[in-house]
Amino acid sequence: MPFQNTATQYGMVTRFLHWTVFLLFFWQYLSANIMTRLGRDSLLFGLNSSDYYDWHKSIGLLLLILALARWIWRKTTPLPDWAPTLSPAEQVISHRNETLLYGCMFLLPISGYLFVMAGGYGVKLFGVYMLPNPIGKQEWLAASARLIHILISYATVVFVAWHVGLGLKHHCFDRDHFLFRMLPFTHHRDDAARDTNNLG
Ligand code: HEM
Ligand code: HEM
Repeated sequence: MPFQNTATQYGMVTRFLHWTVFLLFFWQYLSANIMTRLGRDSLLFGLNSSDYYDWHKSIGLLLLILALARWIWRKTTPLPDWAPTLSPAEQVISHRNETLLYGCMFLLPISGYLFVMAGGYGVKLFGVYMLPNPIGKQEWLAASARLIHILISYATVVFVAWHVGLGLKHHCFDRDHFLFRMLPFTHHRDDAARDTNNLG
């Protein structure tokens, strides 16, 4: 598999970033549910709720860096052509949905950061180092950032469901091996044929 994307397939870097971000998003939802529900004196797998808060905030900030890296990579290296089996309408919808997904990848960490800084809670990076607070306590900012964080976290579920739904529809019902475009170590059947033609 090539390092960069080619005209016919996603390369190693795009796939690595895609699935790393997916796994960390999964953790964010899991940790958010644990930290907001675990009682003050309870432990889960040896960690208390404040540990889960620390890890939610720290991984969230790491996700901001990954989103930035992903966006720069997308803007500075080639994107593959659309899958030949996507209709023009599906191309438009996918493009809009990908823009929304990028928006969420940026706004979730930023709103989370603003909430905890303006709320005066701060971020203890991976439970070790207290980040400086350049904002200071501002009630109205904390309240609005918290609301935005929660609303966007729900909106993200809808956009991801749409994204996965379209992929599964193509892969399972149209049987066009669509997911192979992004899954690690797989090559899309039509793209393989096009690559062979290109070589020939
Ligand atoms: C992509 C990154 C992130 C995702 C996907 C994410 C997701 C979530 C979700 C799903 C919730 C639960 C919302 C609910 O109450 O239903 C939540 C809550 C929370 N998040 Fe994040 N988050 C991210 C980044 C961050 C960052 C960077 C911080 C802080 C530095 C942060 C701080 C918080 C806090 C403090 C809450 C609890 C809000 C409350 O009082 O209920 N999050 N997050
Ligand atoms: C946090 C969850 C997810 C986010 C934020 C996300 C985001 C994206 C984005 C932005 C792209 C465009 C390529 C890029 O810029 O990297 C993409 C492509 C893709 N994603 Fe996801 N994705 C998520 C989860 C999933 C899951 C769970 C699946 C599979 C079931 C999936 C399957 C695909 C496929 C097959 C493509 C290639 C589409 C094409 O042919 O153009 N994604 N994803």
